[in-house]
This record gives sequence, C-alpha cells and structure tokens, in this order.
Amino acid sequence: MIPFLIKSAVSFLFLAAGIHYWRSGNMTKEGLSPNDPSSHSHPEDCRLVHLDLELNADFNKHIFSGFAHLTVEKQKDGVDTVVLDSKDLKIKNVTDQSTAQKLSYSLGDKLEVFGSRLEVRLPSTNGNKLNISIEYETSPEASAFQWLTADQTAGKRQPYLFSQCQAIHCRSFVPCQDTPSVKFPYTATITAPKEITLLMSAISTGSETDSSDNSKSIYRFEQKVPIPSYLIAIVGGDLESRDIGPRSKVWSEKEFVDAAAFEFSETETMLTTAEKLCGPYVWGRYDLLVLPPSFPYGGMENPCLTFVTPTLLAGDKSLADVVAHEISHSWTGNLVTNKNPEHFWLNEGHTVFVERKIQSRMFGEPLRQLSAAEGWNDLQQNVVDVLKNGPYTKLIPDLRGVDPDDAFSIVPYEKGFTLLYYLETLLGGPDEFEPFLKAYIEKFKYKSIDSNQWKDFLFSFFQSKVDVLNKVDWDTWFSGVGMPPIKPEYDESLAVPCQELCDKWSATSDSDLSQFSANDILKMTSNQIRIFLYKVLLLESPLSLIKVKKMEELYKFNDRKNSEIRLKWLLLCLKAHWEDSIQYALKFVNEQGRMKFVRPIYRALYAWEGSRDTAIKNFLSKRPEMHSTTAELVGKDLHLGSS
Ligand code: BES
Ligand code: ZN
Repeated sequence: MIPFLIKSAVSFLFLAAGIHYWRSGNMTKEGLSPNDPSSHSHPEDCRLVHLDLELNADFNKHIFSGFAHLTVEKQKDGVDTVVLDSKDLKIKNVTDQSTAQKLSYSLGDKLEVFGSRLEVRLPSTNGNKLNISIEYETSPEASAFQWLTADQTAGKRQPYLFSQCQAIHCRSFVPCQDTPSVKFPYTATITAPKEITLLMSAISTGSETDSSDNSKSIYRFEQKVPIPSYLIAIVGGDLESRDIGPRSKVWSEKEFVDAAAFEFSETETMLTTAEKLCGPYVWGRYDLLVLPPSFPYGGMENPCLTFVTPTLLAGDKSLADVVAHEISHSWTGNLVTNKNPEHFWLNEGHTVFVERKIQSRMFGEPLRQLSAAEGWNDLQQNVVDVLKNGPYTKLIPDLRGVDPDDAFSIVPYEKGFTLLYYLETLLGGPDEFEPFLKAYIEKFKYKSIDSNQWKDFLFSFFQSKVDVLNKVDWDTWFSGVGMPPIKPEYDESLAVPCQELCDKWSATSDSDLSQFSANDILKMTSNQIRIFLYKVLLLESPLSLIKVKKMEELYKFNDRKNSEIRLKWLLLCLKAHWEDSIQYALKFVNEQGRMKFVRPIYRALYAWEGSRDTAIKNFLSKRPEMHSTTAELVGKDLHLGSS
C-alpha cells in the first residue's frame, strides 16, 4: 500500500512540477530517449555507475527476487531523479542506502517491447554519487530468461535457466539503464538450490553453502570491467567443465562436455591471434558455455563466458568460426560498444572483420576470401528476398519505435564487413588498415560510440589519405537501402570445385544423372559441401525432384550432422517441393531453436502451400516450449498474431 501512496503522491508532484513523467506511455513511434530510441533512461542527467545484485533464484516459481543495489551519479545540477528501464518487474520498494529512508518512485505504463519507465526520486545530498537499493522480483515470463524443466534438458537431472539480454531484455532481469551507452562494473551474490551450478558473465569469486538454509548455495561474482547492461548474463543447471586452455574451460551438461572440449580446442590459438590484432585481452578468463538446443543464437559474447548453441558440435571443428566471432567481440563490442542499437554494425561489422582476420591467420587467406564471398551471397539473398530492399537494409537504420529483435538481420554483419573490407583495399591493404583497427580499439575502449565518431577517427588516422576517403560515398554506405554501393572482388578459388559440381548438376538433364557418384564430394571439406549446396540453392530455378532424390541417394545429405549443411540441404529440398523432406525439416526445427536455422526453414515451409499448414500446426504445438524470442519471431514469419 505504501508504495502506491508514494507513487500517487509522486505523480501529483511531478505533474505540479511540470515534469512529463507519463510520457513513456505514448512514445512508441518517437524513440524513447534522444541517445537511444529503445531505452527510457536519461543517462545525460543521472547515470548508473555500479551495480550489485543480491538475488535468490527460484527454480520452481521461475523468478529472481532480492535487491539491485545501484550506484548512480548525477551529471548536472538540479537533477533530482534517476530514470531506469524495467520490464515486468515487481518493484517492492526503493531505499537510500546511506539513510535507509524509503525513496518515492513511479512506474510508467508498460510498453509492449520497451517495458516501463521507472523513475526514482533522489534525496538531496552534497555529493553527486548515491547508492540506492531496489527490492524487486522478476516475472516468470521475463523475456530475458528461458527456464527449462529437468525433463527438457539432455540429462533430465536438474532444471536449467539461461538468460539472453541482448538487445533489450536486461530490463526484465534488472532495473537498470538498459542502453549500451551506459557502462558499469558489477558484482553479484546469487542464491540457488545446491544441486545447481551457477555461472555469470563475470569472474567467479567463490561459493559456499547458505548458512541459513543448507539446501542452497551462494555464488559470488565480480565483473570489474565496465560493461553495457546487455552483457549481463546468467546460467544455472547441472553443469560440468573441462579445461581447454590456460584461461579457458568449456561448460555444459555432462552429456556434451567432452565433445565440446574437442570441438573448441582451438580457442587459445584464436585468443592469441586476436590479441595480436586487437591488443591485450582484458577480461581475465575466456570460458565457453554450450547451452541447451533452444538457445536462439549461434553465440553470444557474454564477457568471461561466451554462450554458444550446441549446433556447433559438428564433430570436426568446422563450425568453430562462431567462437572466433565471439572472441573478437572481446574487443569490438565489449570494449568498444555501439551507443545504441542503430549503430549495431559497429559491433557486428568490426567483429566479422576481426573474425575473418583470425580465420586468415589460422587457416589461410583463401578461406577468409571464401567466407567473405559466402557472406556477400548471404547478404544479397537476405536483402532481396527477405528484406525486399526495405528500411532494415540500411547500415544505420532508424529504430525509433522498433523492437531491435525485429530489425535484426545479416545486414549490420555483412554490409558492415563489406565497408571495412572495401576501406582496407582502398587505403592500401592490411599493412595500412590493421594498425587502424588496433588504434580504434585503443582510442575507444571502455566507451560507447556512434558511427560518426568511428568515421571521424578514421579520417584523423588516415590524415594523409583524406582525399581517398572523401571519394567514398558515405551517404549511400550509411543510409542507402539495398546492397552496398561497391562489390569487392573476392578470390573464390576454394569454391571452384563447388561451382563446377553445381554447374554440372544444373546443366545435366534428368535422364543423364548416371555420371554423378558418391565420389563427387569425397574430397570436399564440410565447408565446401555447404557452399556447393548454397550455390545450388541460389540457382534461379529449383532443382528437379528427380535430381534432388538422386543427390540424396548418392550424397546422403539427410544423414549429415553438420547443422549448416542440414540447413542448406533442407532449403534446397523444400524449394524443390520434395514432400519427404517436410518431416526432416520439422525434425530439424523441433530439435534445436537457433533462429538462423529455424526461421528460414519455417519461412520456406510457409512459402510452399504443400507444407504451410503442417508448419503452422507444428509451430503451434511447439510454441509453449520454445524460447520466447524465437516463438515471437517465427510467429511473425508465419503471419500469425502473438501468443
Ligand atoms: N551478439 C550476437 C548475438 C545477438 C545479436 C544476440 C543481437 C541478440 C541480439 C553474436 O555475437 C552473434 O553475432 N552471433 C551470431 C554468430 C555469428 C555471426 C558467427 C549468431 O548467433 O548467428
Ligand atoms: Zn556478433
């Protein structure tokens, strides 16, 4: 009752003072804050500078409850509130730590995607820094989490919980300034059932039995490096680990841990290669966590503990480039951070660029060239077929009123990479450009920046080549829709056998298929097979049913474990309207939830009338167990309303 009274009083006060605290209610089309269209916060007035979490994880009720202790710093005179983001949080009270006085607060109307603005009135003090404690509880529906029952795990021994805060889900976990323009170090003390192993995106500073309840353990963590809220992460489950390097372990349920240790054995080499390119690794440990199959992404660069999908476990290390990608984020993204989701290409474009540099150093330049060429094809296919040259094909999109998860696409990755590759070539090659990359990281580490700051630094670094830089069509690169204005030349020599085999399948008539044999692909790497399939898939007209069946008979693609090969193969079969493939496609989307795979398969099933209804039926029956983000986006792909 008391908070309600305080709340009403505050509303009245604010109205009287002319502060438009209710503005959060109707800003969906405007962008919430000038710095970041997806955050309610106003860090230019008062900024979060440290977070200490003290929470209990309830695996039965699916909630966290306890305290977020926030240190906030007023940025100017006359500021008497701090504005935070929250989503589905039950706020119990807010206190001033130094006096234990209750502070009044107001919770704005809930917006569907952006949650509610939480405004806390600050006491007047001499200094600019204040410590406030928010007592609260998360919702079982918090969009940051997926809670799995023991039955939904591989080992079926313990329940499981994992978070995914990027892009703007942290606000459903912690009341905070959920904008990447704000960075802060954090500490955490989390209580959980003692059978559960808990990990966070931080260094573990110890664990002990809870002296007040010995069925529970208390885990402590510290992240000393200032991070944006989207990098807060937590996982709990029946986890084991194996050492895979001097600063690395891999964690997973015990069923996968040996396979994972084998798959990711190149981690330390990738780290040292990245350090040579980007500078020292500041995060101490680099551990990996292999999640349950419903994890919606390939990887997530949570500091000290990268999260990866189990679909990377191909058995031959062929999908470890995702680890190189997440490692690269330790610099581009986690040290130098985009200031809001509109400048996401700064994170992802640079990261793909560094990832491919690592690839080149470890496996040779031809492989980097091949990946870049595949990236271009992927970009083209998405820009034209999926995004229809629309507004999300801009390198810097306008995200006012837009859910960043809806705008997510390959564009910031591959258009961003293409721009950097083009600049590298234009400015004299790697010897000239790699020093820029290092200097860029040095200049902006621990900061959050936008594309103009990046560009200004580029111009100042290449002072002697300003005339070259002035010839770049910046407007089109940054704000143009569609494909990039320049198409780089990539050396596709590694793809020659893939192209030749593709041409042969395309040119041969259905009655003449005896010239193909299982030997055709015997000498190809799994990467080359994936590219062969991609080239066939991109052929103007679908392969005939006879050819697809012959391909299966000879090459046995249905038996392949490699998830990238499965994706391309199934898309090819569905494009050819092969009815038998529908069951394989459903199996693929039901046994894992990585959106990169699930969404195109569902879209292909939807596009073909022969499979549309089956796809919708399958989705509706699986939706309750799916990760909420995946369910939401697949629902849109299938043109259904939300659940
Ligand atoms: N940070 C991203 C994942 C992400 C982006 C999650 C936006 C939520 C919102 C991660 O680094 C990533 O890019 N993952 C890719 C892997 C890749 C390009 C090798 C993925 O999940 O496919
Ligand atoms: Zn990334």
